[in-house]
Amino acid sequence: MKHNFDELIDRRVSECKKYEPSYPKDVIPMWIADTDFAVPEEIAEAIQKRAEHPCFGYPVESFEFERAAARWEKVRFGWEIDPEWVKYSNGVLPFLMYAIRAFAYPGDKVVIQPPVYPPFQAITKNNGCQLLTNPLIQDDNGKYQIDFEDLEEKLKDPRTKLFFMSNPHNPVMRAFTLEELTRIGELCLKYHVIVIADEIHCDLTYKGYHHIPFASISEEFAQNSMVLINPSKTFNIAGFRTGAAIIPNKKMRDNIQIIIEDNKNYGRTIFGMLSFITAYTECDYYADEMMDYLEENKNYIVDFIRNRIPKIKLAEPEATYLLWLDCRDLQMTQPELKTFFFEKAKLGLNDGATFGIEGTGFMRMNIACPRATLVEALNRLEKAVNELNKC
Ligand SMILES: Cc1ncc(COP(=O)(O)O)c(C=O)c1O
Repeated sequence: MKHNFDELIDRRVSECKKYEPSYPKDVIPMWIADTDFAVPEEIAEAIQKRAEHPCFGYPVESFEFERAAARWEKVRFGWEIDPEWVKYSNGVLPFLMYAIRAFAYPGDKVVIQPPVYPPFQAITKNNGCQLLTNPLIQDDNGKYQIDFEDLEEKLKDPRTKLFFMSNPHNPVMRAFTLEELTRIGELCLKYHVIVIADEIHCDLTYKGYHHIPFASISEEFAQNSMVLINPSKTFNIAGFRTGAAIIPNKKMRDNIQIIIEDNKNYGRTIFGMLSFITAYTECDYYADEMMDYLEENKNYIVDFIRNRIPKIKLAEPEATYLLWLDCRDLQMTQPELKTFFFEKAKLGLNDGATFGIEGTGFMRMNIACPRATLVEALNRLEKAVNELNKC
């Protein structure tokens, strides 16, 4: 491997949220969705080189940004897009708000599939819309499936205007199949609901699974959707706050642009542009190598949990480095579960209930860390669970 993913980096000195100063030193943080890996050397070098120049005034808006996004979609997922379709924002999340402002009236409804990334709910409610949930349902193997009958009911509601989709899905680790995406797309077309496909985890599929950009499936789907991307999850550059939306439909694009301009939210950052462009034009090798590394992390934890902590269940992860641990057999209330992980196992995971009521009894573990950290974390968890049995 060109990149050393085993390197243990002290992130406490880098003002990062995951290891914020008040975080207890004896707890391993495995929560917020960034990695503990160094960025590709190409990004580090580009940033260092630009930082040598002493002026950091307003940057030009070069079209390299849009071209870089188009290149990535084509090379990685075979989706040919026109760079004109690409819109900048300081992350993926602002586009959810823009979509509500552009395509819904106050009181209209947005469909989400919980348990799901919490801001989907917050942004909907905080921008005057109502939530309709189409909970994902576990089959006998713990794999989450879409309840299409219920989805149709929710989409049929005349006030439903938007469908917020996480694909790959955070936190249930699904990379939705062509069949699933096609059924979703057809239902949304039938009921005139626009699909906002949050594909921020697109690069993070495990062997045997692959990512399909929603809008690449058909021209009709493309005209009824926007696809959201950000190299942040893959290249550990979330702190540069630079994401993009791909909006093939010109009218939709213009409507989003009006909202962006009305709110004067178009200012780009020098380092955000630079890291985004470098990631999407020079760092394919890093995305490949990181997935090879994460594949082994994932295999390690799947085997470990299955053989040594059978009270915790983990369905087969298809995508993302955020693993959804089913802890219901530990028979704890949610506050007890959180305390158990933090105080007994000394591990800082995300509380599953923050992803919706459907996440009660679950915890989300970020495995984008060096193997040594993962091994230590699992040993701690095994020990803490064994001690429970002794009580
Ligand atoms: C599904 C999903 N969407 C969006 C984000 C955040 O996106 P951004 O930082 O680009 O706003 C995350 C971060 O964890 C995420 O998991």
